[in-house]
Amino acid sequence: MSVDGKSAPANRKGRTFTPLLNEKLLSRLHKIRADVDAVLVGAETVIEDDPKLTVRVVQGKNPLRVVLDSLIRTSLDSHIYKTEDSRTILAVCHDAPENKILRLKEKGVEILNFDCDRKIPLRDLLDILYHKGIRRLLVEGGSEVRWSFMKERLVDEIFVWITPSVWGGRKAPTMVGGDGYLERDHSIKLKLKNSEIVDDTVILEYHVL
Ligand SMILES: NC(=O)c1ccc[n+]([C@@H]2O[C@H](COP(=O)([O-])OP(=O)(O)OC[C@H]3O[C@@H](n4cnc5c(N)ncnc54)[C@H](OP(=O)(O)O)[C@@H]3O)[C@@H](O)[C@H]2O)c1
Repeated sequence: MSVDGKSAPANRKGRTFTPLLNEKLLSRLHKIRADVDAVLVGAETVIEDDPKLTVRVVQGKNPLRVVLDSLIRTSLDSHIYKTEDSRTILAVCHDAPENKILRLKEKGVEILNFDCDRKIPLRDLLDILYHKGIRRLLVEGGSEVRWSFMKERLVDEIFVWITPSVWGGRKAPTMVGGDGYLERDHSIKLKLKNSEIVDDTVILEYHVL
């Protein structure tokens, strides 16, 4: 995120931060991906950024990719649905369009269908992922999905990368969106586990208490 806490600019044109990362930081990001079992993103991140979420700049295995997209608003041509190098699971709600489900299955995407309207029930999803052997899940974004995980108290660790930039913009998404906590006592408390400066980027690692 930027120094002012933004995870994308106000015009929501994606792929904002990755180009700001130098080779050292990019390697580190890809190493984190290689070390987890799965990486998860929300529909908007796929629509706006079209990420691959694979491990490319270091040696390592590609994580399983998980997308939350209740009604399949994402393009079926998104990079994340190309499954030659890495598996993808798409979590949808029961009334997701059947024709899109069939086409994605043909592409090798695994579909998990939940009894929901617009928000994938995260605990049910995590139960299924656990039974598939997923123990370390990296929630890469975006801010709405991060909030859902925080609200349900499903987060063990938080990694914050503060890049030397200021984006501003009251409509720019921050690191965590959603409705937010209204009472200070309800806010999520953290313990700093590690801090580091890599070039001008500050890297913070927190345990959630
Ligand atoms: N700087 C970074 O590290 C970073 C990383 C990732 C993304 N981003 C930026 O973040 C922005 C996108 O973030 P965003 O907050 O707008 O969207 P998002 O979190 O990527 O996706 C939110 C969407 O996911 C779907 N969803 C399904 N189940 C959900 C659940 N249980 N909880 C929350 N969402 C659920 C919903 O769409 P449906 O209701 O249609 O299912 C929801 O609108 C982009 O601009 C991207 O560039 C930045």
